[in-house]
Amino acid sequence: MKRDVISILDIKDDFEKIMDDAISMKKNGYEKVLNGKILAMIFEKSSTRTRVSFETAMHNLGGYAMFLSKNDIQLGRGETIEDTAKVLSRYVDVIMYRAYSNKNMRELADNATVPVINGLDDQEHPCQVAADFMTIKEEKGRFEGLKMSYFGDGDNNMAHSLMLAAAITGMKMEIVSPRKYWPNYYYIDKVRELGGEIEIMEMNENAGKDADIIVTDTWVSMGDEAEKEERLRIFNGYTVNDEIMKRAKPDAIFMHCLPAYYGYEVTKEVAHGKQSVIFDEAENRMWAQMAILKWVLNLL
Ligand code: CP
Ligand code: NVA
Repeated sequence: MKRDVISILDIKDDFEKIMDDAISMKKNGYEKVLNGKILAMIFEKSSTRTRVSFETAMHNLGGYAMFLSKNDIQLGRGETIEDTAKVLSRYVDVIMYRAYSNKNMRELADNATVPVINGLDDQEHPCQVAADFMTIKEEKGRFEGLKMSYFGDGDNNMAHSLMLAAAITGMKMEIVSPRKYWPNYYYIDKVRELGGEIEIMEMNENAGKDADIIVTDTWVSMGDEAEKEERLRIFNGYTVNDEIMKRAKPDAIFMHCLPAYYGYEVTKEVAHGKQSVIFDEAENRMWAQMAILKWVLNLL
């Protein structure tokens, strides 16, 4: 069976192996094991990190990456996802897809005969969370027993993938979010099935207490723009600031997948402060994806 990475759950059995390979390549160097391999990258939405990190990852490993904006290919004019998947599979070895909907992501994966990697959809962002957990491993040396507190939109792609990864690795998860944006039940059930510990709450004076990791994401994800005004009103009061960082452990780290909107989900002081690892996370996209690309091609 081909190896897709649509959810972080798809790599759960090899999670530590992928993390350790990414860290080892960063530390000790790597071979051009993807020599001659080609990655097609379909983007329906904007991207800085995902595009550049996948392109450099393929180049580093000796392969080639092709950028396909939805508007430049026939998909944007109504060619079906099924036909796009079948055609691309005849040319390339792997497809990376950044999509509006998880349904379309799954349709592409079901119809492609080559592995498909989710470069973000409305439900999950597994590559970002692989990079984030690589960063946690570098910083803390372990996952088991750590506490992660996530502030903001508890029902977005980042919250879902982080919850699942925390459950996979034995980390305790706290979601601090307005009730309207508590996580989708599907993901809560998955966390429970994995035996994960999760607490979901609205903002309160203990939120973030004794956390090892404080994390947030934008209040207005790509695709949510029509609700911007309402979201900014409802999320008011959920900004990660110095006061929240003080409730966490003294050696806690601050994480954000970026792009960040300073003054909304986080203050610039925290995001660019001593405890922040946001630019390590961005760098680690490349290393984690090098390991994921090897994994989907059965080289890991
Ligand atoms: N974090 C992330 O996926 O960034 P881009 O949208 O720039 O790819
Ligand atoms: N939740 C954000 C992540 C951006 C990388 C979004 O979907 O826009």
